[in-house]
Amino acid sequence: MNFLDAAVSDYMADLCKRFEHPVLVEMEKQASEEGFPIVGRTVGAALLTFASAVGARRVMELGSGFGYSAYWFAQAVGQQGEVILTDGDSANQEKATDYLSRLGVGDRCRFVVGDALESLGNEQGEFDIVYCDIDKHDYPRAFASARQRIRSGGLYMCDNVLWSGRVATDDADEWTQAIRTHNEAVYGADDFLPVIVPIRDGVVVALKK
Ligand SMILES: C[S@@+](CC[C@H](N)C(=O)[O-])C[C@H]1O[C@@H](n2cnc3c(N)ncnc32)[C@H](O)[C@@H]1O
Repeated sequence: MNFLDAAVSDYMADLCKRFEHPVLVEMEKQASEEGFPIVGRTVGAALLTFASAVGARRVMELGSGFGYSAYWFAQAVGQQGEVILTDGDSANQEKATDYLSRLGVGDRCRFVVGDALESLGNEQGEFDIVYCDIDKHDYPRAFASARQRIRSGGLYMCDNVLWSGRVATDDADEWTQAIRTHNEAVYGADDFLPVIVPIRDGVVVALKK
């Protein structure tokens, strides 16, 4: 899922070498071998930067896989912070727990197995960031559920919002339509200031006013 020129993408990824860690490399290897869609280092660095910029201490992730994107948030929230990971697949919990503890951030990460939107509903209080990366047909519901749960000055972030460019073509499959509906809702929300950062597959970053 990469509509950017491959050489430009590689160039940006190369610039992220400073973030290299043997366990991160292990996670990237697993993703590559299994064809599992992690955000990768370029987006990871963006998650870390945006989360740090808003002083995030409490992050809710919808769709965590085996913990790759959570690692970047976990660095930003610091030792006293919390990243709540959610995924429908319990095998991912086991992998994430192992990886995140070896990355030195297991203390601030909590994994909830089950439907991500139900898990969001079960959590109390506000979040500095709600980050969405679940199955795409649920994107409109994810924003609708997340928007009231983000503090003023916090962020709604969501991956794959350009969907390999298909959002801008005549493609009419269910997931593409759902992402379009989601993007229009985020851009139509008067209480958010949105921007799509066109790295990898497109990440929307929307500041809650
Ligand atoms: C694209 S992957 C997440 C990758 C992760 N954000 C990363 O970059 O490391 C999507 C994950 O969300 C999970 N998932 C999809 N829809 C879900 C839902 N409605 N509730 C919980 N988990 C879901 C899948 O099991 C999968 O592991």
